[in-house]
Amino acid sequence: MRQRPDRGEVATYIPELARVDPQAFGLVVIDADGSVAAGGDSDVAFSIQSISKVFTLTLALGMVGDRLWRRVGREPSGSPFNSIVQLERERGIPRNPFINAGAIAVTDVILSGHQPREALGEILRFMQFVADDPSIAIDERVAASEQRTGFRNSALANYMKSFGVIENPVDFTLGVYFHHCAIAMTCRQLAKAGRFLAHSGRNPATGHFVVQPERARRINAVMLTCGHYDGSGEFAYRVGLPGKSGVGGGILAIAPGKASIAVWSPGLDEAGNSHLGRIALEALTKRMGWSIFGV
Ligand code: DON
Repeated sequence: MRQRPDRGEVATYIPELARVDPQAFGLVVIDADGSVAAGGDSDVAFSIQSISKVFTLTLALGMVGDRLWRRVGREPSGSPFNSIVQLERERGIPRNPFINAGAIAVTDVILSGHQPREALGEILRFMQFVADDPSIAIDERVAASEQRTGFRNSALANYMKSFGVIENPVDFTLGVYFHHCAIAMTCRQLAKAGRFLAHSGRNPATGHFVVQPERARRINAVMLTCGHYDGSGEFAYRVGLPGKSGVGGGILAIAPGKASIAVWSPGLDEAGNSHLGRIALEALTKRMGWSIFGV
């Protein structure tokens, strides 16, 4: 896989991400018994970006339950991750929690009643808890880089604010959002963090129930339908697993009952999803017969 030349383009709209080595490639699979298969740059930390949205969604559902769905939908958008077009017609309610507008609305829910620093600490601690690794940290340079250039996100947040969908000062909400996107993790840490979704809400390594089985099932459903934006249909067609991508080139994929998988290759396709990461997952699921749609 490492040798393949067709890698796509590294994200450049966040200047700090443009510095990442496009040749990097890592893959980690953790099966139900906890056996770990790791290859390539599996212990190199990368910017998880939108993969963080799976964990903020989980956290927000834990805080406000199904009331969250009054603030954000759960339908695929069929639009790019940073699109604004549907917001006008749908009165500021984003289509789903994984497009940028939706994730900003979810971050705003987590922030309400807290100072930005506390909310961010809560998100980081949750990530450390699910991955069972207190060393996970935020890459401040990536956060600052996006804060300087995140004009579209700023537009999305302000637009939602005009409909009353954002409760907190826009700069506070965006500050927390940019920082949780800038969490840096390795494929090994990310695969560990996804285990509760592969095992009905319980992390088999720690025995902790992170969420109830029904909630894990539903988060997986949203990952399947919305986790790759307007590439979600293609990802389901080729890989057949719930998955969430990030513009840092990572993908977290969940084989329910079987495995948690993290892959990283920074080159992206036109939808902003890891190109080689998807190809690697397609080969893996085919070989293992792990597609949720059958072998
Ligand atoms: O808000 C942004 O544009 C980035 N912080 C996250 C976008 C992202 O990761 C899209 N995923 N493929």
